[in-house]
Amino acid sequence: MKVLVTGGAGFIGSHIVDRLIEAGFQTVVLDNLSAGCLANVNPAARFIEKDVRERDLVDLLGAERFDFVIHQAAQTTVPKSLADPRYDCDVNIMGLVNLLEACRSSGVKRIVFASSAAVYGDPAVLPLHEEADKQPTSFYGLSKLTAEKYLELYYKNFGLEYVTLRYANVYGERQTDSGEGGVISSFLTKALVGEPLTVFGDGTQTRDFIYVRDVAEANYRALFTANANRSYNIGTGQEISINELVRLMQRLVGKPLITQYAPPRAGDIYRSALKILAACANLDWQPVYSLAEGLGRTLTSLR
Ligand SMILES: NC(=O)c1ccc[n+]([C@@H]2O[C@H](COP(=O)([O-])OP(=O)(O)OC[C@H]3O[C@@H](n4cnc5c(N)ncnc54)[C@H](O)[C@@H]3O)[C@@H](O)[C@H]2O)c1
Repeated sequence: MKVLVTGGAGFIGSHIVDRLIEAGFQTVVLDNLSAGCLANVNPAARFIEKDVRERDLVDLLGAERFDFVIHQAAQTTVPKSLADPRYDCDVNIMGLVNLLEACRSSGVKRIVFASSAAVYGDPAVLPLHEEADKQPTSFYGLSKLTAEKYLELYYKNFGLEYVTLRYANVYGERQTDSGEGGVISSFLTKALVGEPLTVFGDGTQTRDFIYVRDVAEANYRALFTANANRSYNIGTGQEISINELVRLMQRLVGKPLITQYAPPRAGDIYRSALKILAACANLDWQPVYSLAEGLGRTLTSLR
């Protein structure tokens, strides 16, 4: 099996690459290093420095003949999508279409796509199942939802199989504090050096935090599921408030943490938790790391 991982030098992508290498797959990473770094890339993988928007991507995929593509490369932050909607659209939509064209012409069997809980917007009822109403509140959520629609139509029109994974807030080793779910890495880094933690809003807002190795496993299983050509939520189904998160971190770090409160950020949703029954049943997957365990592993990597 030969697999291309776009964004494989980034946080989640690099863990997916580790999982593929462990499975003995020939793994190639494509990344423009705008946010990721070479140190993240498993030495057993081949690295290509390239932007997913480059027109000659089609030649590369034509020459390499990948069986599968796992697409993680993206503009990943809500605030950036609001500050620069054109850039968000360029990378997350035009970049995807460029990649899909290359997949179609080179005979890729299946693409696995990193979508986000941001496609749902601010829901009234939780936890969210896949068919819930989708009203993104940011251009980032909109670009992910649009990308999902492209995948559906590439399958219907050209037979390119896909699996969309809508991640909750992912955390773990190698995360920087710039990404969508970066609150944990930001808090842990600050906690270790005794700096105050900035909570946007009053801390009662909730998130569904999923450990990165569980997400990598879901990507791996999505390659082989017989239940492809649809979207799956990838989270834990548990709603944790930011204030609870701080309390849990305090116990793990072993000292009192100083918190300061700032106004909520534009585009951020208030509550989030995903129903994961479909992924458990159809991908034969379930999260195996508790929040305390995942936080502990992340903390160890930062010390
Ligand atoms: N981290 C989360 O909590 C979370 C939640 C939901 C969805 N996602 C999605 O998961 C995917 C991975 O996110 P991450 O947290 O690992 O982010 P990340 O920034 O660590 O990884 C993204 C990688 O893509 C690369 N990249 C960006 N633009 C590129 C381009 N134009 N061409 C080639 N490479 C490019 C970056 O250099 C980086 O290595 C993204 O699609 C993101 O939107 C992440």
